[in-house]
Amino acid sequence: MRILSIETSCDETGISLLEVKNTKNKITFEILANTLASQIKIHKEYGGVYPALAKREHIKNLPILFNKILKQIENKKIKSKKIFDLITVTSGPGLEPALWTGIVFARELSDKYKVPVIPANHMEGHILSVYGKDKNNFEIPLNKKEVNFPILSLLISGGHTEIVLVKDWGKYKIIGETVDDAVGEAYDKVARMLKLPYPGGPEVSKLAEERRILLLKSLGSRDGDGQRKFSAENFSAFQKQYSSVENIEIKLPRPMIYTKDFNFSFSGLKTAVLYLIRDLEKNKIEIDENLKSMIALEFEEAITETLLHKTKKAIEKYKVNKLIIAGGVSANKNIKREFAKMGKKLNIEILFPTQKLTGDNALMIGMAGYMKYLINPTKKYKKIKAEGNLKLK
Ligand code: KG4
Ligand code: ZN
Repeated sequence: MRILSIETSCDETGISLLEVKNTKNKITFEILANTLASQIKIHKEYGGVYPALAKREHIKNLPILFNKILKQIENKKIKSKKIFDLITVTSGPGLEPALWTGIVFARELSDKYKVPVIPANHMEGHILSVYGKDKNNFEIPLNKKEVNFPILSLLISGGHTEIVLVKDWGKYKIIGETVDDAVGEAYDKVARMLKLPYPGGPEVSKLAEERRILLLKSLGSRDGDGQRKFSAENFSAFQKQYSSVENIEIKLPRPMIYTKDFNFSFSGLKTAVLYLIRDLEKNKIEIDENLKSMIALEFEEAITETLLHKTKKAIEKYKVNKLIIAGGVSANKNIKREFAKMGKKLNIEILFPTQKLTGDNALMIGMAGYMKYLINPTKKYKKIKAEGNLKLK
């Protein structure tokens, strides 16, 4: 069957068309057409996503992207008259005005093409995004032995930070989440404090990585992938050596790292950066590129350490041997590297999405919608509504 998927939960408009084949052991998704329109340039001016603006852009983009989909499949010989058998659309979580645009568009297409619509959970999409096999295919294993449930997943994005236990396909349990800011949100806010452009995650991360490599070199390691056994003492010695700033220790907290639950908190970390910047300014110290990169590095170390520690505890408690890491922040080099190392140490498999699928896209929504259809093929979804705080369960 063919499934048309629509994503409009935040600042990316996406539509995809997937051909789905279901065998006993796996489901394969072939990408027939795929489109994505980013609104980053528009939101950049404002330093963040504005829901009303996002809504306007989605409304403008959706028909354009749908026409592109039709164009992309022109020379693919689709035999049946029906271009797609099913539509799936993100119903949450996300910005409600943005979500509604996708839902309304899905309903219009549903009337026009006489096919049903299934709502999809954006976070389920992020989880399934790691099953991208190559450029054109996805493959979700069904063989219980191969999958080995439960799987643990760490979802880190601009709106969410949660540890989810995947008990079976379509059966989820959130075992921990942020009590305040999401990781990506903290990155974006710190970026703004450092006067870096939106979206700040990649910018902060780039500065941090440059500084990390410098630090590792100074410690005799060749590159950022080398062992990173720097102690607190040589870290601050390094900071002094490379910084024009004297007597400033850049040390940020690791909030909630040792609490017994699996929850996170990143708002305090962000505020600590704010106070640090204020202190520097009070002391008439210019926050130059050098200092920015030192703050970025310490911030990223604090985030990585916290995520690693909590996730490791959850791996041990739930005795899983697979960990999925997905969402926009899973593009982060340091987080990827450190989790890959942890996987080796604990002898568990770590699954990441390919770089292109870390951010929001409609392909992952197609997979999430299809899995929902598979679990209950006859269910009718009459009144689909936007649910900003929709939770996995
Ligand atoms: O999943 P996503 O595309 O959208 C949401 O559903 O939120 O995630 C976007 C978030 C933004 O906060 C962005 O700054 C962050 O992911 N991000 C990163 C990196 N790339 C994107 N954060 C840290 N390091 C990165 N390399
Ligand atoms: Zn997302």
